[in-house]
Amino acid sequence: MSKEYKFSDETLALAQRIIKRYPEGKQKSALLPLLHLAQMEFDGWLSAPAMDYVASLLKIQPIEVYEVASFYTMFNLKPAGKCLIEVCRTGPCWLLGAEDIVKHIEKKLNIKEGETTPDGMFTLKTVECLAACGTAPIIQVGETYHENMTCEKVDEMLNDYKSKGERKTHFDKKHVNANQH
Ligand code: FES
Repeated sequence: MSKEYKFSDETLALAQRIIKRYPEGKQKSALLPLLHLAQMEFDGWLSAPAMDYVASLLKIQPIEVYEVASFYTMFNLKPAGKCLIEVCRTGPCWLLGAEDIVKHIEKKLNIKEGETTPDGMFTLKTVECLAACGTAPIIQVGETYHENMTCEKVDEMLNDYKSKGERKTHFDKKHVNANQH
């Protein structure tokens, strides 16, 4: 049976509150937060049916959602591990060892960049500047920035995430709730 893409009641209520921030006819402006909600709710990635569901909530065409989701690297268009490891590959991070860190993670997890470990725990990705160049090299995992990274610190980070086994997301519902009145 195919999976049904529908938000939980709590997430749907949150989505409706976000949509109401915008004037009538401008609901499309809520697209980015709704895509974050969808990625959080639907196992860390945006399948075509998940994006179609977001389009139906905003009363826009699915293609309008696909265009936006495929533009931003923070949206995953294929299944991702519970921990998406995003290593910054821009100049300052690269000069301070990001390349060695990527190679180290690839060896440690036995995957290549863009791949997911067979247990579904980790996906490795490289991304452009994460705006924390002063503490390069940087790795982002969900909402957490790991700064001044070294291969030793990567080992500790991986062990920690593996032992917790939780899904890490870029977007936490609690932040949206905190901004509501
Ligand atoms: S270059 Fe890596 S955070 Fe800016």
